Amino acid sequence: MGIREELMERIDMERIPRHVAIIMDGNGRWARGRMRGRSEGHAEGVNSVHNITKAASDLGVKHLTLYAFSTENWNRPAEEVETLMHLIGWAIRKETPELKANNVRIRLIGEIGRLPESVRADLEEGCRQTASCDGLNLNLCLSYSSRRELTEALQAIVDEVAAGKRPPLVDEDTISSHLYTAGIPDPDLLIRTGGEHRISNFLLWQIAYSELYFTPVLWPDFDENALLEAILDFQGRERRFGMTSDQVREQKP
Ligand code: FPP
Repeated sequence: MGIREELMERIDMERIPRHVAIIMDGNGRWARGRMRGRSEGHAEGVNSVHNITKAASDLGVKHLTLYAFSTENWNRPAEEVETLMHLIGWAIRKETPELKANNVRIRLIGEIGRLPESVRADLEEGCRQTASCDGLNLNLCLSYSSRRELTEALQAIVDEVAAGKRPPLVDEDTISSHLYTAGIPDPDLLIRTGGEHRISNFLLWQIAYSELYFTPVLWPDFDENALLEAILDFQGRERRFGMTSDQVREQKP
């Protein structure tokens, strides 16, 4: 039996995380380790995006949220930013037919208006083409900053109150419904590749109760088996949401 089959045998298909979010890190180090340019690491990272999207879709994950470009990434050398933008546009154009065939819907999260016009057009076309797909939701975070998302949400709420459009009482649902992720359930599992143990301004509100999984595997090396390992680790944990183990057991049918 191969490694994949062994892992699949141990996976409980009834307890697949509904929402997996990933901080894809390590493209640069992957390239440096092979004496190649950083751009080649990013190009290889696109292969991982392809493989992990397919694997998540096959497993029945409902939301896969990928941190593809942070607001802070605009500060990288202009040449690297240009390469990344070019790659993202190219990858979306290339992948959209297969995503559509696999019933995957592309959704965009972040300050999409800051992206170059042509990349935005490619992304919007990908969204349009897959709008009626109701399998996996592939949520791409582009020019995304969680603090900015929260700041904008709070400003929007304040403006609505000032305009008399809503009462001044704010609860958690008010905030959630003003985030880019409105309507998307919170991540069950957050994976970070590349060996760092940081959240880097990603989904700060949404990951309040997510299980965190850090792996030293660099993103271009993160394959289907690595995803299965992460899901197995997730399935071995007890999610208590602040309750005791006894209370959690009593809740189970
Ligand atoms: C982090 O590695 C990776 C990124 C900043 C970019 C990730 C983007 C892709 C893989 C392309 C996404 C494409 C689509 C279609 C969504 P790093 O450069 O920070 O690596 P390092 O920490 O080793 O330097």
